Amino acid sequence: MKKRYESPTLTRQVGGVTNKFGLGLGGKAHDRIDGVSITELRERYGSPLFIYSERTLKEKHRELQDAFSHRYPRFRHAWSYKTNYLKAICRSFQRLGSWAEVVSMMEYEMARSLGVPGRQIVFNGPYKPYESLKRALGDEAIVNIDSFDELEDVERIAGELGRTVKIGLRFNMSLGAQMSWDRYGFNLESGAAAEAIERAQSSGRVTVAGYHAHLGTFVYDPEHYRTAAVKLVDFHGTMKTKYGVRLEYLDLGGGFASRNRLRGSYLSTADLTPSFERYAEAICEPLLAGFAPAEAPLLILETGRAMVDEAGSLVSTVISTKRLNNGKRGVVLDAGVNLLFTAFWYDHEVLPVIERSGPPEDQVLYGPLCMQIDVVREQLRLPRLERGDPVLIRPVGAYNNTQWLQFITLRPNIVMVGENGEVSLIRERETVEYLQQREVLPPWLRD
Ligand SMILES: Cc1ncc(COP(=O)(O)O)c(C=O)c1O
Repeated sequence: MKKRYESPTLTRQVGGVTNKFGLGLGGKAHDRIDGVSITELRERYGSPLFIYSERTLKEKHRELQDAFSHRYPRFRHAWSYKTNYLKAICRSFQRLGSWAEVVSMMEYEMARSLGVPGRQIVFNGPYKPYESLKRALGDEAIVNIDSFDELEDVERIAGELGRTVKIGLRFNMSLGAQMSWDRYGFNLESGAAAEAIERAQSSGRVTVAGYHAHLGTFVYDPEHYRTAAVKLVDFHGTMKTKYGVRLEYLDLGGGFASRNRLRGSYLSTADLTPSFERYAEAICEPLLAGFAPAEAPLLILETGRAMVDEAGSLVSTVISTKRLNNGKRGVVLDAGVNLLFTAFWYDHEVLPVIERSGPPEDQVLYGPLCMQIDVVREQLRLPRLERGDPVLIRPVGAYNNTQWLQFITLRPNIVMVGENGEVSLIRERETVEYLQQREVLPPWLRD
């Protein structure tokens, strides 16, 4: 076969300090997901295209389940809807035995419409409208209370329901300079947490049955979980004696790191991302030491991004290329930050789908938006990408299909590759008609 002509590239060598973040070297061509040809998927479903791997979802779930259930007698994963609430993803986790973790009325309804029973829904979030709180408590969902105002609502609802209701309380605590989220729940050190328990336990209508603490997100150091677990075990010792709390569950939220690369990271994700085993070690040891076996509460984790990120990939196509003033090559893709919200804080892996020869060259990847902020990768070294070339961007499974923007272009198809290789469309591309169906022109502007 005749080889395509590649013009030579001149790379300017700059003396001085080496870039400590490396050259952003791209990897080898990758043209299959679980044995299915990406080229064929792109031909059939168009570009851009999100692709989810059911096999990866299952592997991640098994890894988490094994790490925790081998160490601790009672463990349950609750799927964090906000990380990805595509029905196919939520249903996959539901089938694997995960409960649902929701942070709004909308997500609560999503879980119920998928058939998740109230008792298997963990309801968090700082805003639970009165009606949603009432519905969730009526369904006997696991409701974790965020503020004294919400506690007041719960007391009223208990009166309306004519029975005692069980709740959990959200806590925050000091975990060092970078790790002290204090906006959710009641603070342990200030005394607010104990005050909330005293108030609930003495109300006669509300019983505290659970503690919840979501420490943060992308928590690289498992030791933060150990510290939190130790603090909660100690705190419970006092609360049990003082207010007679009988703890049924302890929920340590989400926050495990995925294998994505945070912008500016020096080390590779393989070196940085702790395994589920390491998180499990840090969490389970203090729990096993702190609770007598008969009193061990159910351990709930709401791990989101670490479960789904690697299951999602995005195929995009080069629309055009140009030479930038700084000598780098600019490449415009058909997918930008509108679909890839996480590009703001990750350097995603970008791989060619078709092998290209030629020396690697510095390239900047832009999205299709007419906006300066639409940069998918600021720096990537790959053999030249040409117009029409497909690229694979990954991992993209966490937070993109919930935080994506309906902005300037329409959102594309999403498919799932089943464990057996079967491919199914799980979200159809949007149309202008779909987008405008909730809009109404005022009478004076109609034709
Ligand atoms: C209460 C709660 N649980 C779970 C999660 C999932 O977190 P992650 O995706 O970092 O695991 C979040 C995300 O912010 C959260 O707020």
